[in-house]
Amino acid sequence: MDDNSIVCHCIGVTQGRLKQAITQGATNFEQLVLATEACTQCGSCAPYLHELLGKKINWTTVEISQIKSVATDIKAFKLIAKNKKSQFDAHQPGQYILVKAYINEQWVTRPYALSAARSTTTYREIIVRKKPKGLFTQWLFDGAEVKTMQITDLQGTVYIDITSKYKSFCFSGGTGITPIISACRSIKQEKLSNAGFQIDYSVSEASHIACKQELQRIIKQHPFISLNMRVGQRISLVDIADIVRAHDSDMQYYVIGPNQFENYVYKALLSCGVTENAINNLKEKPLTAKLQPPPKTVPSVNRSYTYIGMLLFWIFLIQEWFNLKIPMVEALQEDESYKRWTGFIVLSFIAFQWYYPIKQIFSFKENLFYWRKIHKYNGVIAPIILYVHSTSIGYA
Ligand code: FES
Repeated sequence: MDDNSIVCHCIGVTQGRLKQAITQGATNFEQLVLATEACTQCGSCAPYLHELLGKKINWTTVEISQIKSVATDIKAFKLIAKNKKSQFDAHQPGQYILVKAYINEQWVTRPYALSAARSTTTYREIIVRKKPKGLFTQWLFDGAEVKTMQITDLQGTVYIDITSKYKSFCFSGGTGITPIISACRSIKQEKLSNAGFQIDYSVSEASHIACKQELQRIIKQHPFISLNMRVGQRISLVDIADIVRAHDSDMQYYVIGPNQFENYVYKALLSCGVTENAINNLKEKPLTAKLQPPPKTVPSVNRSYTYIGMLLFWIFLIQEWFNLKIPMVEALQEDESYKRWTGFIVLSFIAFQWYYPIKQIFSFKENLFYWRKIHKYNGVIAPIILYVHSTSIGYA
């Protein structure tokens, strides 16, 4: 690799830029990330950054020994060393490995958290969701050839402490459930108990809940573990504030999932008064939110649409009560064809406003944030539409 080679593909940071930052004083991982912004997205370049800082990466050649479907488009891959005698180190839930494969004449590297119980040393298991345009996942899911890959030693120093004397609360999004699967499997295998282990798991669709039955079985046998699943709806700031209010101040929080999810939950926790030390990010990279000052106040729900809607509604009532009519509008509303057309608009508007509540009842798997927003903002202009049809309260 020369100095012009890109090390962090997400941000486009070259080896030369990283070396320059190191000579300018960024002598540890965090400083290097802050100086270059490398490793602030997927995190897969973290080991290369460590390598530039003097740490050696060991690669082991592995092959797939078993593939198991654990949800729609999500599979668990067991990887064993090509040299069958090799054993792996025991890991902690949340630690990850880098998996490297030679695809289309280039090396492609991806980070994956380990999903097996932590004492597993004969194989590595990763859970992978097939991405529609993902070069690596498409290659992995395609069964056409025998696949050989290289994997690193264990990465990451932050992990879920399943023997902690403090209660733990895990916010997990999408395949961010993998470390939690590892934690639950370890608890079961080692017959552990702890102060409390709560999981809040958000997924876009019910069919994407990984290892659902296995998790439910483990939770049934271990009353100190609880699982709340959110399907199709992202956890709200109000929910997070409620969770923080309902738990002890020494609760340890874990945030695991796609970058956007992690940053969102992380910022919300900070704004609810949770300290940085109580929030654990399992990826070995600073959360993007840490690069910016956290918000100082508890996030409030945006109610501007309600206030504007209420104001328009009151204006409508006042013009009716005090007979503040505009002659031109009154004259228009006498016209039969105007009445019919604006009546049709009012009916269409009301019919459209019913779309969201009906969709909410019958399409529970879908993400309805978008429709809820449209429903709310349409509601704001309802008094205007009614006024255009009729300035009198009876007809409107
Ligand atoms: S390659 Fe650096 S963050 Fe993705």
